[in-house]
Amino acid sequence: MNKESKKTVKKSKKSSKKLKKIIEIKKLSKVYDVTDEIKVHALKDVDVDIYESEFISIMGPSGSGKSTFMNVLGFLDTQTSGDYILDGFTSQELTDDKKAEIRNLKIGFVFQGFNLLPRTTALENVEIPLFYRGGYNMKHAHQKAMEMLDLVGLADRAHHTPAELSGGQQQRVAIARSLVNDPAIILADEPTGNLDTKTTNDILTLFSELNEKIGITILIVTHEPDVADFTKRKIVFRDGQVTEDVSIKKRSRAGYNREIYV
Ligand SMILES: Nc1ncnc2c1ncn2[C@@H]1O[C@H](COP(=O)(O)OP(=O)(O)OP(=O)(O)O)[C@@H](O)[C@H]1O
Ligand SMILES: [Mg+2]
Repeated sequence: MNKESKKTVKKSKKSSKKLKKIIEIKKLSKVYDVTDEIKVHALKDVDVDIYESEFISIMGPSGSGKSTFMNVLGFLDTQTSGDYILDGFTSQELTDDKKAEIRNLKIGFVFQGFNLLPRTTALENVEIPLFYRGGYNMKHAHQKAMEMLDLVGLADRAHHTPAELSGGQQQRVAIARSLVNDPAIILADEPTGNLDTKTTNDILTLFSELNEKIGITILIVTHEPDVADFTKRKIVFRDGQVTEDVSIKKRSRAGYNREIYV
């Protein structure tokens, strides 16, 4: 092999490792028209690229635009201007029906209040996105949902209703549900906001493990600097703009208990 071809091989190896861009956001703005006179600029000219297997925390004071950002990313709200491309789909070009379809297939949501159906078992809650998607018979849906419950350590609670589960267990069910369609990204808005310190630690450890194990891309909104320390990259909003976008050098290790070791 001559020198030139060696170089080419090296280069192509490197480029094959390049991670896929899942989200591309350019000059994204959102203005809420409260009245004819009052307009709230919730997002202003936001530029962000997100690659597969990233684990990102979104931070910033109350009212800085974090939820608005997540809602636009999740197709729950539409930007006023700017571009948003999710896994090759340009949001401005999609009908509402197509957005709903992509939302179900490509995005897993985890909310502060868990949002589980109350009189429905953990297993059935996890199966719901599969039935919206279609193409799953009962047996395969059960199988897939059980796999997800197993992944979050809750296989033994599959037949319990939310009222029979602790807050942390309910959030695990919600995480299993968010994963069931093999989405491109998980969007979690304050997922530990209703949980105590120990359970918060457990849920963040679970997110870290899922990110490591199955490479799922995760965006998590939080007020707590401790929570951000579990992630790999931190994006900070202030008055609707990104003021900081950095990788986190000293991450908290999974299972690390700060109360004991700090
Ligand atoms: N539906 C709405 N109509 C009008 N203004 C809104 C609406 N939703 C949000 N806003 C405003 O947009 C700005 C950003 O709100 P957003 O909910 O994104 O903030 P946040 O960073 O998530 O805050 P928090 O940490 O309190 O959840 C705020 O000034 C808020 O009052
Ligand atoms: Mg919010």
